[in-house]
Amino acid sequence: MNEQRFQEITSRLERLDAAFRETGISDEYKKKWGVDHNVGFWMIGRKTAEWISQLIRTQQPAHIVELGTSVGYSTLWMAKAAESYGGNILTIEKEPYKAKEAREYFEAVEAANVELIEAEIESALVGIARPIDLLFLDANKSQYHVYLKLAEPLLRSGSIIVADNMLDYPDKVAKFDAYVRASGKYEGIEILDMDHGVLVARRK
Ligand SMILES: C[S@@+](CC[C@H](N)C(=O)[O-])C[C@H]1O[C@@H](n2cnc3c(N)ncnc32)[C@H](O)[C@@H]1O
Repeated sequence: MNEQRFQEITSRLERLDAAFRETGISDEYKKKWGVDHNVGFWMIGRKTAEWISQLIRTQQPAHIVELGTSVGYSTLWMAKAAESYGGNILTIEKEPYKAKEAREYFEAVEAANVELIEAEIESALVGIARPIDLLFLDANKSQYHVYLKLAEPLLRSGSIIVADNMLDYPDKVAKFDAYVRASGKYEGIEILDMDHGVLVARRK
């Protein structure tokens, strides 16, 4: 991966995300994306990016699946970490304008271990045939429990699940949180008070 391009792109996205959260997306971006409403990147925070990189480097999941790419900020961090041991990442995004921008960044940093599926998660997950060693949930918060149940047949014993926005959208993630705790299928369940709140657990 091209380190210099990685630094440039992730720093620029951090600046834009902060500005868009404050004042809404710029007119330039509305034009670029062809939207007339506030959309935003809604990226993971920098601390979460560093934490998940470290988790990936130490646990070395071979196949990572990300639900919700946006423009690829979290994907870039995970791809960089996974590259160090030969891991790969499949990321899913339904909005064509975000997928296009993410693809441009993956190309710019020369990430050879990223595949992006432009589709609805619910349909894309059904078509995945390979096992998932780390599942990162960061799409529609109120659907996390649906995504997890769809992905479950692909999770091996010991696979890791990580979910963002556990503390800033508690109502939306409530069904997911309850399912992870009550299903009896997960252990080591923790919610980290970092950025938007991150759940981490392991499939039994
Ligand atoms: C919070 S953002 C992802 C941020 C990204 N993971 C990051 O940290 O840089 C959520 C993304 O999920 C996408 N999304 C929401 N529901 C989806 C669905 N059902 N299928 C595919 N993508 C979806 C949205 O379009 C949005 O870009």
